Amino acid sequence: MSDRWYQKAVVYCLDIDTYADSNGDGIGDIRGLIGRLDYLARLGVTCLWLNPIHPTPGRDDGYDVEDFYNVDPRLGTLGDFAELLHQAGNLGIKVIIDLVVNHTSDQHPWFQSARSSPDSPYRDWYVWADSAPPDRHQGMVFPGEQGETWSFDRTAKLWYYHRFYKFQPDLNIKNPEVREEIKKICAFWLQLGVAGFRMDAVPFIIEETEPGNPNSPKDMDYLTDLRQFVQWRKGDAVLLAEANVEPDQLVTFFGDGAGSNNRIHMLFDFMLNGQLVLALARQNPEPVIQALRETPKLPPGGQWATFLRNHDEIDLSRLTADQRDQVFAEFGPDENMQLYGRGIRRRLAPMLGGDRRRLELAYSLQFTLRGTPVLRYGEEIGMGDDLSLEGRDAIRTPMQWSDLPNGGFTSGDPIRPVVTDDQFGFHAVNVTRQRHDPTSLLSWFERMIRTLREAPEVGAGTCTHVDVPAPEGVLVHRADDHTGTMLFLHNLCTKDAVVDLSSVYAEAEFPNDVLADREYPDLGKFAEVPIAGYGYRWIRLRRSS
Ligand code: NOJ
Ligand code: CA
Repeated sequence: MSDRWYQKAVVYCLDIDTYADSNGDGIGDIRGLIGRLDYLARLGVTCLWLNPIHPTPGRDDGYDVEDFYNVDPRLGTLGDFAELLHQAGNLGIKVIIDLVVNHTSDQHPWFQSARSSPDSPYRDWYVWADSAPPDRHQGMVFPGEQGETWSFDRTAKLWYYHRFYKFQPDLNIKNPEVREEIKKICAFWLQLGVAGFRMDAVPFIIEETEPGNPNSPKDMDYLTDLRQFVQWRKGDAVLLAEANVEPDQLVTFFGDGAGSNNRIHMLFDFMLNGQLVLALARQNPEPVIQALRETPKLPPGGQWATFLRNHDEIDLSRLTADQRDQVFAEFGPDENMQLYGRGIRRRLAPMLGGDRRRLELAYSLQFTLRGTPVLRYGEEIGMGDDLSLEGRDAIRTPMQWSDLPNGGFTSGDPIRPVVTDDQFGFHAVNVTRQRHDPTSLLSWFERMIRTLREAPEVGAGTCTHVDVPAPEGVLVHRADDHTGTMLFLHNLCTKDAVVDLSSVYAEAEFPNDVLADREYPDLGKFAEVPIAGYGYRWIRLRRSS
């Protein structure tokens, strides 16, 4: 039996500084988060992923770290953090943190020392070139905000490499001291009690950068090494990686090819994310069916992490230009809604026009597809965005707790404005209003997650498309494991439909809807199973005793 907790987890991602402020300075903090753990437990969250918590100049929302061994004093102290781990643990909630070790902030003492002298012990911790590398205008991650990947440092009188913003110099993974330091950082936080790491920018961490070579080699074996280290320090610790790479490279992040999952446990399913958004835009599940069919088989233990929204733009770069245009037309028609020419900087509720039925459909789909679901804070109440803010900040506004000033996020001056528009602002959309309303989106999420808990085959089992005669807007898929089988119907379009499921009837023991968008008539012999426009049905087919 699988006792791998991450395969049955519901992960909730939040940034402490926009979640809950306990001391009125306008910045969310650890004590504020501790005060909201009961809310998260009630929602059914089993694992928190915290966006970077370290001291930072804050030029990339914390992804520019100044000290890996501390907590940003604006958020609290290391003591507060240990208390958070303890309190979360009491409620059965694990905590993973962002491990951002591809680069540091340029304010990090290591970089300050490295640039100051050729004799600095940290000189070789970064990636330098004597002359301007010819490929310096290639490989930018933030086109439009970033002009190059190599910049000249006047103090060092050398060029340094930065895959991301100029103020984020890349660490030199070729240097064994850097490799050891990354392990030490992991060890420190594991010792404090985190359950693992969301590893930022993994394909770039292992990049052995050579000036002038835009396709520098990658040392995949470092991932094997790091995994082994982490697992020795804490047996059930988990690595969840951001690796948005070509499909044919994905499997090498999970294992070395010899058949075991000896590298990263979980990868965000960027491929499925793009296809899911395309399917929603087209009101046709075909892209999802194709993704289910084409995704490579993972070594046992390897797991996908699914998401609809995260803290970045929705990245559509793996769609064709036509497909991307289709998604833009449907979900981000204004230029101001788009980012980097490849993505959408909106939350899901406004993308779907605030249509409650469609929102439930979308999240039902995400949570029932293969892998472990990851939910971004605020999505559970249908929060909106603020397109007047710069770039990705549009979707990083404070959590909306109530209709008190600033949505109950802070009694002070909020770090970022709280959304106030009529449809998605905190007066209309907030936790307090929804928690007492059994028909609210929040109550639906609670119910949905509770139901998911009773269906361990989703996540831990295998997920396949069921090829039955169905109208073109309808997806039928199933999850199978030794625990049993669940069957799912999702209607991505507005038209009511009827599906012929007779081919699976023989497997049905005591079939019934365990979750659905409405009450449906009895399933009968599965010959004519109705599904409303934007409807969904979770049908338990079989459960092993
Ligand atoms: C990926 C993170 O998700 C993003 O927010 C960040 O800006 C870059 N990595 C750089 O760390
Ligand atoms: Ca505060």
